[in-house]
Amino acid sequence: MSKPIAAKVTGAAGYVPSRVVTNADLEKIVDTTDEWIRTRSGIRERRYAEPGVASSDLGTEAARKLLAMKNLSADGIDMIIVATVTPDMLFPATACLIQDKLGAKKAWGFDLSAACAGFAYAMTVGAQFVAAGSHNKVLVIGSDVMTSIIDFKDRATCVLFGDGAGAVLLERSTSDSEGILDFAHDIDGSGGPNLYMPAGGSLHPASQETVSKRMHYVHQEGQQVFKYAVRRQAELACQMLERNGLTSRDLALVVPHQANLRIIRAMQERLGIDDSKVIVNIDRYGNTTGATIPLGLVDAVEQKRLRKGDLVLIVAVGAGYTAGSILMRWAY
Ligand code: UT7
Repeated sequence: MSKPIAAKVTGAAGYVPSRVVTNADLEKIVDTTDEWIRTRSGIRERRYAEPGVASSDLGTEAARKLLAMKNLSADGIDMIIVATVTPDMLFPATACLIQDKLGAKKAWGFDLSAACAGFAYAMTVGAQFVAAGSHNKVLVIGSDVMTSIIDFKDRATCVLFGDGAGAVLLERSTSDSEGILDFAHDIDGSGGPNLYMPAGGSLHPASQETVSKRMHYVHQEGQQVFKYAVRRQAELACQMLERNGLTSRDLALVVPHQANLRIIRAMQERLGIDDSKVIVNIDRYGNTTGATIPLGLVDAVEQKRLRKGDLVLIVAVGAGYTAGSILMRWAY
């Protein structure tokens, strides 16, 4: 077993917009069917933010819920890390916007861009500051308004995504029996062209041409990403267990990124674990990118599927490619 990281999750909260969009609703917009979406992805419905509602709004709501649950004032937060691919603007960072909305006057922070693995990356980064002793309370937020970057003329991608946010609080752990035990992350930039948003950055600044070519939307080679994610997510889960001398029997719960139910089930099969040990909420939320993992943790707590001391594995693969896993003992 590796040396614990001296940081633990002490609270989790989520926020999703109230507007539910079903597969039947999408049938009216693109040439698709409820049956195709359900069998290919596992999605039944997702939430859409209203126009004008941005990632900082969803992230702030999740953070406010979390602070209320913890009975904590915003002043008590030292740091805010926001995982997002849909920042309100390219700058300032969404972390700055959330800091201001929360009134977290003593916090500094930044955004982290690692797509669907972003929340896991942000948790690992935040944990380092807590473990070092320099920061006591780090807010890690995953928030995405995917509807701001999906092309409702592209049936292969628009049906997959939803909007949402989740937040966790990281605090110092003084016991080996709780908190983050290990993490592993990697990137494989050769996968970049398979899932990306071509325009809006320094390579293709916004112009009439980029708009007319629909370059400000998500472009995905679905099958390529699928093949990579199916293999890599299962590998990461197995490697994390192996290097800690554990087997899947030791796990109480896996909280995987929610991109496709078939990717989740493939990992589950490789691990040899049944449904009771895997969080699935893609049916209700679709792929919310940075928010899937914290929303999964919230479900785990609300469904009473986690107890103090339980071994939990987080695993995610996303655009980049980015990938990562975190092993922890649940602390509350
Ligand atoms: O979180 C970030 C990482 N992203 C992922 O992990 C996503 C990975 N990819 C996937 O989840 C899957 O590849 C998809 C769900 C995107 C697609 O599933 P697929 O089984 O790979 O389908 P496909 O792309 O091979 O398409 C099969 C057929 C095609 O028709 P033809 O060529 O066989 O006639 C598509 O045109 O399904 C068609 N199709 C649709 N049909 C109805 C594609 N999208 C739709 C749709 N409704 N929405």
